[in-house]
Amino acid sequence: MTARYGGFPGARPRRLRTTPAMRRMVAETRLHPAELILPAFVREGVSEPVPLASMPGVVQHTRETLRKAAAEAVEAGIGGIMLFGVPEEAKKDAVGTPGTDPDGILQVAIRDVRAEVGDDLVIMSDLCLDEHTDHGHCGVLDAEGRVDNDATLERYAEMARVQADAGVHTVGPSGMMDGQVGVVREALDGAGYQDVSILAYTAKYASAFYGPFREAVGSSLKGDRKTYQQDTPNAREALRELELDLAEGADMVMVKPALPYLDILRRIADAVDVPVAAYQISGEYAMVEAAAANGWIDRDRAITETLTSVRRAGAGMILTYWATEAAQRLNRGE
Ligand code: PBG
Repeated sequence: MTARYGGFPGARPRRLRTTPAMRRMVAETRLHPAELILPAFVREGVSEPVPLASMPGVVQHTRETLRKAAAEAVEAGIGGIMLFGVPEEAKKDAVGTPGTDPDGILQVAIRDVRAEVGDDLVIMSDLCLDEHTDHGHCGVLDAEGRVDNDATLERYAEMARVQADAGVHTVGPSGMMDGQVGVVREALDGAGYQDVSILAYTAKYASAFYGPFREAVGSSLKGDRKTYQQDTPNAREALRELELDLAEGADMVMVKPALPYLDILRRIADAVDVPVAAYQISGEYAMVEAAAANGWIDRDRAITETLTSVRRAGAGMILTYWATEAAQRLNRGE
């Protein structure tokens, strides 16, 4: 057979897969600790961390263990931490008062983490009411029990101010209210926080994979979020959300969940010139952990493969509950 260099047998893609060194050299996508962001839960009024049954390895932190986790995250070289507060059940109400109380658990946690790590980690906070409301919705309700978009925006503006007062670097409005990014930007600027950035949950889909998160934040939600979060079949709609978020002043944009929405991630990454993040959510974490616990998949390889896929699809940053562990492994050269 004569060698035909435009095709087989001259051309053999397998040549570039022959050794680990060769594969490493030609890898098109690399993971780096700095692009990983750790979502972390802190629960008010607990003296020991509370393990989450549906997220083995993840806990609701006490204030003290959260500080330790933040220090460990810095040590591992990860980029940021996204904080979620879990207030005492009795403090939740219809308008989510703990979310705007300067002494609410999330604000306390932001101050704690800022005191612990300063600027060594980008400190981010969830800007949403669902952890703080007794009905579990991401906003306040109108007389008919529907989520009231514009009344909710006023609450978000207040949340932005108290989170910034507490020392957060970046807020993450995650409620999918129309106009939320603009209102948050205005509130921050009006309070002198021009340097506090916004990571917009731009394309956030109503997903079954949030299930374990609801346990993680002790959510009181009955029903679903389909009137505000996006509908799974829609992709163009994500581009419309993107356009609006950018016009309203989003500094960074996010797609969520990650793995079931890689096509959305790719379209958004191709369309923007701001940093793009993806959130590998609780259910994505739980699936891998559960299958691994059964011996059905190789846990560490599955983690690396999912993170690499999300990165390859266009995410410059990944929120993942494995952030610190994955970074530690990367640091060891694994
Ligand atoms: C809303 C919020 C949710 C998550 C992050 N921010 C829950 C929801 O929208 O229902 C989910 C994260 C995860 O599942 O890991 N505050």
